[in-house]
Amino acid sequence: MEFKLTPGGTICGEARVPGDKSISHRSIMLGALAEGVTRVSGFLEGDDALATLSAFRAMGVEIERPGEGSVIVNGVGLHGLEAPAHPLDLGNAGTGMRLMCGLLAGQPFDSELTGDASLCSRPMGRVIDPLQLMGAEITSSEGGRPPLRITGGRQLRGIHYDLPMASAQVKSCVLLAGLYGNGRTSVTEPAPTRDHTERMLRGFGYQVSSDNGVISLEGGGSLRAADIDVPADISSATFFLVAASIAQGSDLVLTHVGINPTRIGVLNILGLMGADISLNNEREVGGEPVADIHVRYAPLKGIEIPEDQVPLAIDEFPALFIAAACAEGRTVLRGAKELRVKESDRIAAMAEGLTTLGVENEVLDDGIIIEGGRLGGGVINTFHDHRIAMSFAIAALRAEGEIRILDCDHVATSFPGFDALARGLGLQISALVD
Ligand code: S3P
Repeated sequence: MEFKLTPGGTICGEARVPGDKSISHRSIMLGALAEGVTRVSGFLEGDDALATLSAFRAMGVEIERPGEGSVIVNGVGLHGLEAPAHPLDLGNAGTGMRLMCGLLAGQPFDSELTGDASLCSRPMGRVIDPLQLMGAEITSSEGGRPPLRITGGRQLRGIHYDLPMASAQVKSCVLLAGLYGNGRTSVTEPAPTRDHTERMLRGFGYQVSSDNGVISLEGGGSLRAADIDVPADISSATFFLVAASIAQGSDLVLTHVGINPTRIGVLNILGLMGADISLNNEREVGGEPVADIHVRYAPLKGIEIPEDQVPLAIDEFPALFIAAACAEGRTVLRGAKELRVKESDRIAAMAEGLTTLGVENEVLDDGIIIEGGRLGGGVINTFHDHRIAMSFAIAALRAEGEIRILDCDHVATSFPGFDALARGLGLQISALVD
């Protein structure tokens, strides 16, 4: 599928973007491992979270889907999973693979995790290393890449692990393995990362302590099923926060968006750039804070992005680069090397697309410098990355020529229905099926 964008437009109205990807994955995993029935609403019916759902069905967990965004997980308890008959295919989902690797390391049966070409080129050594320290037996393809083969029946031991990078996936992997470990498992993070695993474990009655950057739990407990209301994903909302900020005359409300403090780097960064964003109706649903976000057009200015915001906005940089391209002056990002190992190398992929549109930029090893200015049109490669596709789609609001975006099928991994929702709000987008 390709997107074709006619330049110009304004973004107005009210919308609820699909459910949070991180929380949707975790709702299936913890729901499956809990005792009792977990009812999930607002579930992201995107390919990534559905791959996790299928993986647990393949391990004998009964999961019903009675309606849009609604999932019922009949938990089997921490020791109730069955050996899957085939390798578990997690599609494009790094979160699915890294978190499941942790909990499969503690099972009595062997398993194999695989995925699509993009996932099979991503580094898994970052989860294999700590799991091996815990006593797990895992083999991978060359360079620590999937497929991963996990030998069952190994008794894991609790460890303390200093995370070498700010990664919620690695943190969560170690904590989930720790559920099966002897004694205490703890991690320290170089910077705070999304804490959905910790929050959901607590919501399921499991004690997790967070003390001065050290997160720990004791193995050998049990999880009690609890209902989960998945907020709208702030990472998906981001495309429209940027869209409304850059398109003159825009005025938009995004409802029920998750505003977990470990996820709001995008609000802080856009705020520093001069965006007009306010939060209304702040409330808490199932242990996660949510709000309605009101955003109106405002002229943006280039900034030096504070490095402490990087882990809090890690998935939002492709869209933020478009904001930077439309801002007055220069934006500098450093300390963001992790962007190079996402669904694509997002620094290289965005730099290529920005250059195609005539936006001056300089690639750094761990970031990018972007000079705000005029945007032309052109043909964009997405490198099979959903967020690259959606970022260049919103760039059309300020472009002077047509933008064609190749290879957009992966948009459905995190944001099914993006083009229809965007069209309804004022983006002049058509999806061409090839
Ligand atoms: C995620 C953590 C982040 C993020 C990913 C989702 C999670 O990855 O980029 O989209 O759900 O834990 P890292 O842990 O690799 O930073």
